Amino acid sequence: MIAGIPRARLGELHAREEVEFRHRHPRSAALAAAASEHLLAGVPMAWMRRWPGPFPLFVDSARGGRFTDVDGVEYVDLCLGDTGAMGGHALPAVAAAVADRAARGITAMLPTADAAWVAGELTRRFGLPAWQFALSATDANRFALRLARHATGRRKVLVFDWCYHGTVDETMVVLEAGTVVPRHGSLGPPVDPSATTVVVPFNDVDALAVALAAGDVACVLAEPALTNIGIVLPDPGFHDELRRLTRETGTLLLIDETHTICAGPGGYTAAYGLDPDLLVIGKPIGGGVPAAAYGLSAPLAAAVRADFEDPSIDVSGIGGTLAGNAMSVAAMRAALGTSLREEDFAAAIPLAERFTAGVAGVIAGHDLPWHVQQLGCRAEYWFGPAPRDGAAAAGAGDAELEAFLHLYALNRGVLLTPFHNMALFTPQHTPADADRHTDAFAGALAELFG
Ligand SMILES: Cc1ncc(COP(=O)(O)O)c(C=O)c1O
Repeated sequence: MIAGIPRARLGELHAREEVEFRHRHPRSAALAAAASEHLLAGVPMAWMRRWPGPFPLFVDSARGGRFTDVDGVEYVDLCLGDTGAMGGHALPAVAAAVADRAARGITAMLPTADAAWVAGELTRRFGLPAWQFALSATDANRFALRLARHATGRRKVLVFDWCYHGTVDETMVVLEAGTVVPRHGSLGPPVDPSATTVVVPFNDVDALAVALAAGDVACVLAEPALTNIGIVLPDPGFHDELRRLTRETGTLLLIDETHTICAGPGGYTAAYGLDPDLLVIGKPIGGGVPAAAYGLSAPLAAAVRADFEDPSIDVSGIGGTLAGNAMSVAAMRAALGTSLREEDFAAAIPLAERFTAGVAGVIAGHDLPWHVQQLGCRAEYWFGPAPRDGAAAAGAGDAELEAFLHLYALNRGVLLTPFHNMALFTPQHTPADADRHTDAFAGALAELFG
């Protein structure tokens, strides 16, 4: 909890917004009540309770940058499925490809013609020459880590403090007083995570050098900028040092672009000239259909090619019966062919800039020590100065304040991403959509601080 917030006022305002929320959403309330009968926590995935309001909104339909709930209320969607729909909801080409594939067979354990096109497109965008598919970024990360351990013969993985890479066991960790411990809330960690994982603060080149010098790290798994604890940008030169140190110590570098594809068609990697050994991309590349991919550099692909051609590959620990299924691959082809392209980012990024300028103006107007950070078509505000690492960002979190601001925005027709204050823009959004959030944000702070 941060200081300087009038908590009693915050509580009153939040209670008022909850009344309004209940009043507007009788059908969602009824569906939530019915769902709680046989769904643990009343939702298909427990984190769906983390939305603002006393119950989650139930969705009727979504298109472009908007969705409509079952009570007929339309929203500007700045969450976009936490990046899963970053190219826009209901992309026509994806809808057509899915319908076509559904009618012609969804999965047969055999390749379809779309796969080579998708792999070629991923190479064109990200630079790595060899690709395999998965159904989620979590799985793609898991498979890439296995490959890294196999290729290096080393056991450990290095991640940055307060990272998030999906539900990958090795990464559900945090540094506490210099010790690697399970992240608060991590259920049933399989082993003491210090046995598998080394953690260093983001942007801390000295700590990274010491950690890699031990020579037991197979792979550094990194988002190019942290995006799951606010946005923490790399210091100038950080990526050069990361690449230099990994090379010097024989450590592989895995860049997870699942969120940072917001920086452009080839993610942060293409935009800033990174040169990883492995790259993972999930979420939006299927236009919302489960799809992910991991790419290998030429030397790494050469090193593991024989293993991938070995008859024992079906029990390698890398795979999944439905991975690379015809529908998933068709969706990737349709999504990559019609969204997340240069021209799409050219339309979406100015909207994120507009959001950022609007929020910055409101923060400055109240003389608050908060900041708003933008990376491509993603922007996020946070209740402290721009942090250099995840722990500093985590220290400026405030669940109570966040819940109020999100609910306030929702009651005014704007959906922000739960867990943090993130907004994503798609070309189908408009300047008025960005301003709608600014107005709600301004209204909330005016009521809170008077
Ligand atoms: C950077 C990053 N990588 C991987 C994932 C995992 O994606 P999924 O939940 O689709 O497996 C996430 C999810 O938020 C993420 O933010």
